[in-house]
Amino acid sequence: MPTVLHGKHIVLGVTGSIAAFKAADLASKLTQHGAAVDVVLTPDAARFVTPLTFQALTHRPVTTDLFDPRAAIAMDHVALAQRADVIVVCPATAHTLARLALGLADDALAATVLASRAPLVVVPAMDAQMFDHPAVQEHVARLHARGARIVGPMEGRLASGLVGRGRMAEVPEVLGHLRAVLGAATGDLRGTTIVVTAGGTREPLDPVRVLTNRSSGKMGYAVAEAARDRGARAILITAPTALPDPPGVDVRRVETALEMREAVLAACRDADALVMTAAVADYRPAAPAPQKVKKGAPTWTVELVETPDILTEAGAAAPALVRVGFAAETTDLVAAARAKLVRKGLDLIAANDVSAAGSGFGADTNRLVLIDREGRVEDLPVLPKFDAAWILLDRVRALLASGWTRP
Ligand code: PMT
Repeated sequence: MPTVLHGKHIVLGVTGSIAAFKAADLASKLTQHGAAVDVVLTPDAARFVTPLTFQALTHRPVTTDLFDPRAAIAMDHVALAQRADVIVVCPATAHTLARLALGLADDALAATVLASRAPLVVVPAMDAQMFDHPAVQEHVARLHARGARIVGPMEGRLASGLVGRGRMAEVPEVLGHLRAVLGAATGDLRGTTIVVTAGGTREPLDPVRVLTNRSSGKMGYAVAEAARDRGARAILITAPTALPDPPGVDVRRVETALEMREAVLAACRDADALVMTAAVADYRPAAPAPQKVKKGAPTWTVELVETPDILTEAGAAAPALVRVGFAAETTDLVAAARAKLVRKGLDLIAANDVSAAGSGFGADTNRLVLIDREGRVEDLPVLPKFDAAWILLDRVRALLASGWTRP
């Protein structure tokens, strides 16, 4: 499957911090995703992690010295700078932040950054007192104002043993930001806004109990991340999940079907497409008890009322919106999904066999059958949810690109 990192040239600048060991993991992950990673180490970074480590992980020469005659032949920093699709400085010390903010070119990394017009991602790591210092804050603000994306630092335990805001962002977080930056620069959904829903809504029975379902949110988060990677402005409206917010995605948290409806209708006013993977409650308690219902009675009867159909309402409110539904089914997969497509007036529906192995609620993979308005049926194999999301977005893109108009 394609990913936004595949075939990209990434310059990874590493500076002298104990967090430099995490940069080795980042170099490895980027390489595994098919990126060509050129590592530039500051002299102090090379005291924490050797050039050989990065060379072994990236299978490419590593630059440490601007004036190394061998490196000058193998790795001209200007050529590196111009070839880069993105430069990430990870970890970035206070000293390097200052040098980058001032535009100094006193080592291979600073010179490469200065010679490049590629997007810059900076991942600070230092003692919390240092990060809070007005000088560092000024440099961060200056880099941010110049368009650099600053990732972290996080609150946490620091090398000094103290706890504070200075800990380097974790590698998955840095990767998410890199994917967002590359998507914004090169993605085929740039200029579009895609609203995605995820998770299972929670309908209160009383202040402590809820009616909900088994949705983990994984499918919706995968769609939002794939949309972000392809350059869309991704808005993720999610019912409660255990998943972290994907970097570079506008995450809006809701709890109930009614809250999801409000959030979706508001987000869709300026959107191009809506992909509803959420397992929205079809019914909610008519009158949730205001206080916790005490145990004791042998039965508890709850009256349920139907929730509004969000997909249908979104279509009425924004007729030009491309609308994609999901249909969780255990029997008559295609026929049941097709009936939902027609009833809700959708452009595409992903029929989801939630009883098949490796498919549906909570799994990392999914088996979808895509059905469109013309009746075309595409039966996808069991795929990682991200890969299934990518294919789904291919269809959304085709609908958007075809100068699509609602009949
Ligand atoms: O979250 P995961 O663990 O990754 O699991 C993914 C999933 C199984 C939840 C997902 O792939 C899926 O199948 N989602 C659809 C679940 C569902 O509620 O299907 P449905 O057939 O009941 O609803 C059909 C469509 O109408 C859905 O797009 C739903 O979001 C939408 N709907 C439903 C009710 C409602 N009141 N308003 C709606 O818009």
